[in-house]
Amino acid sequence: MEVNRRQFLGYLGKGAAALAVASAGLGSLTGQAEAKTADHLFGFEKTKKTKKTVGFFKPIEHTTKDDLVLPEGFKYDVVAAYGDKINEKGDTFGFNNDFTLYFPIDGSSERGLLWVNHEYTNPLFVEGTKQGDKYTAKQIEQLLYNQGGSIIEVYRDKDGVWKMDTSSRYARRITGLTPFQLTGPAAGTTAVNGATKVQGTFANCSGGKTLWNTVLSCEENFEYTAKDAGLDATHYGWVVEVAPFDESFAVRKHTALGRFNHENTAMGLSKDGRVVVYMGDDKKDAGVYKFISKGKYDPAAGLTNSALLEEGTLYAANMKKGVWVALTIEAVQAALANEKFSVPYNVNYSKEQLIEMFKTQADVLVHAHEAAMILGATPTDRPEDVEISPFDSTIFIAHTNNDSHGNIHGHITRFFEKDGDLGAMEFDFEIFAAGGRQSGFSAPDNLTFDSNGNLWTVTDMSGSSMNKGVFVPFANNGMYVIPTSGEHQGEAFQFASAPVDAELTGPWFTPDERTLFLAVQHPGEQSKSLNELTSKWPHRPGDTIPRPAVVAITGFKF
Ligand code: FEO
Ligand code: CA
Ligand code: CA
Repeated sequence: MEVNRRQFLGYLGKGAAALAVASAGLGSLTGQAEAKTADHLFGFEKTKKTKKTVGFFKPIEHTTKDDLVLPEGFKYDVVAAYGDKINEKGDTFGFNNDFTLYFPIDGSSERGLLWVNHEYTNPLFVEGTKQGDKYTAKQIEQLLYNQGGSIIEVYRDKDGVWKMDTSSRYARRITGLTPFQLTGPAAGTTAVNGATKVQGTFANCSGGKTLWNTVLSCEENFEYTAKDAGLDATHYGWVVEVAPFDESFAVRKHTALGRFNHENTAMGLSKDGRVVVYMGDDKKDAGVYKFISKGKYDPAAGLTNSALLEEGTLYAANMKKGVWVALTIEAVQAALANEKFSVPYNVNYSKEQLIEMFKTQADVLVHAHEAAMILGATPTDRPEDVEISPFDSTIFIAHTNNDSHGNIHGHITRFFEKDGDLGAMEFDFEIFAAGGRQSGFSAPDNLTFDSNGNLWTVTDMSGSSMNKGVFVPFANNGMYVIPTSGEHQGEAFQFASAPVDAELTGPWFTPDERTLFLAVQHPGEQSKSLNELTSKWPHRPGDTIPRPAVVAITGFKF
C-alpha cells in the first residue's frame, strides 16, 4: 500500500502530536537537547528572489581555497592539532581527528572536556613507509598511538578565543595500546578467541553520547591496522565506551552492539524506558542497525547504566517490509537450514562456510553484517551517521554514496518509527534530501541538529574524486545546514568549506550553541611527498606539514 504523507501522520498517531509539542521547543528524546527551546533561531530564511539567506548567516559559495572558509562574521580557533601536547605528562594529540563531543564542566559552555576520535594515520606524516610489506615495532607503536581518542580540556578565554588547557587533570589519551575489557555475549567466547581483555582501539570514526555522560566511540575500518599490527581482527569493529571524567571506569567494548564497520551511535529511549542505539555500517551495500537494551534506563543510576549495553537485542532494518529484524542465532540457523536459501550477493562466504560460522549468538554479533543480510536486512548505500531528531524522534541516516549502484552523490534517509516509539518494530521512511547538482552537496556524512531543528551535515567526497569530473561543481568538502521543517525543508545552505583534500567531521555544539566544534580531517592527504604538499593547513607559523586539527567556530548571533 502506498502511504502518502498525510496518511502517514495518521498512522503515526501520537507521533504527530509529538511533532506539535516539539515545535514548541519541548521535545526531547536524546537527553541532549533537553533544556533547549527554539528561542534563538539561527535563521535560514531565504528571500525568494535572491535565494540567499537573510538572518544569521549568509551562505558561502563552493570554493577550492586551502582554508576553512566560513560565512562573514564567523571565525575559527585551532584548539588542538596533530602532535600538540595535551597534558603535563606530555601525551600528544593523535592524527586524523574525527568525532568531537563537548562535555561541559560545571554546566559551562565556555569550559569543558572535549573527546576527539582519531581515525587513521598517514604514513607520509606519521609512521613512515613500510620496509617491504612490514612496519617495524617502532612504526607499529606510532600507528597505534596516533589512533583512538583524546580527552582534552578546552576553554574560551577573556578575549573570546578557544584554547586547550594542558594543565588539565582530565586530559589523557586512549590509544591502540590501551587495555580494554570486552562486555556482553561475545566476551570470552570462541568467537573472539576466548578474549575478555583486548589491546587498544583504532579506526575511531564517529561516535555518540550516552544518557549517562560517557562517550561511545566507533571502530570503523579496523581491518588495515589490525593486520599491520598483527592483532586479532575479532577484537575490533566494536563500539567502545569511555567516561571522560572518570579514569577508574574501565574502558570497554560492548559486544552486544555487534561488530561491523561502525560509523557512529545515536542513543534515545523507547517509550517504555529501554535504551535504543541506532548505528550505521559504513560500507557499500550494508545495513542500518538498532540495539534495544533488555533493562530500563535509570537516570539516578549514573555510570552503572553502562550495563544496559551488555544485554539486549540487535536488529537490522528491512526497508522493503518496514520492519526491524532481530539478529538471533536461531533465526540465522533456520534460514541457513532452509533448502531455498541462497547466499546474498553481498556476503562473501559459501553456504557451507556460513553454516560453520554460525554456531552461537556470539557468532551472530561478531559477524553481524552476514547475519543481517542472511535474515533479509536491506543493503544500503554506505550508512554513515545516524541521528535522532530531538524534535520529533525521526531518525536521520546519511547514506553517503554507492558508485556500484549509480548513487554517486548520496542522500539522507529519514526513518519514522511506528507511533514515534524508538522501541517500535515497524517503521516507514522517506528520502529527506538527496545529494547532487540540484541540492549543491555531495556525499553527506556526519550529522547534528541545532535547537531550531536544522540538520547540519558535513560532506565526504573522497580525495581522489574531489574537484574532478562530476564532482567539480561542489569544489572542496563542506558543511551544509538543512532545515527539517518549514518552507525550506530539505534545502541545503553552505556554512563551511574545508581546506584542500580535507573532510570536515564531528560537528558538535556547546549547550548554548554559541560555539561549534568541528574536526578538519586529512588536509593535504593527496600530497605525493613532503616536497609536494597540496595543503599546509592550518598554516601555523613553523609548521612544515598539514595537520589535522579541531577548531572552535564562533560568531553565532541570537
Ligand atoms: Fe570514517 Fe564512515 O567515515
Ligand atoms: Ca565519517
Ligand atoms: Ca567518511
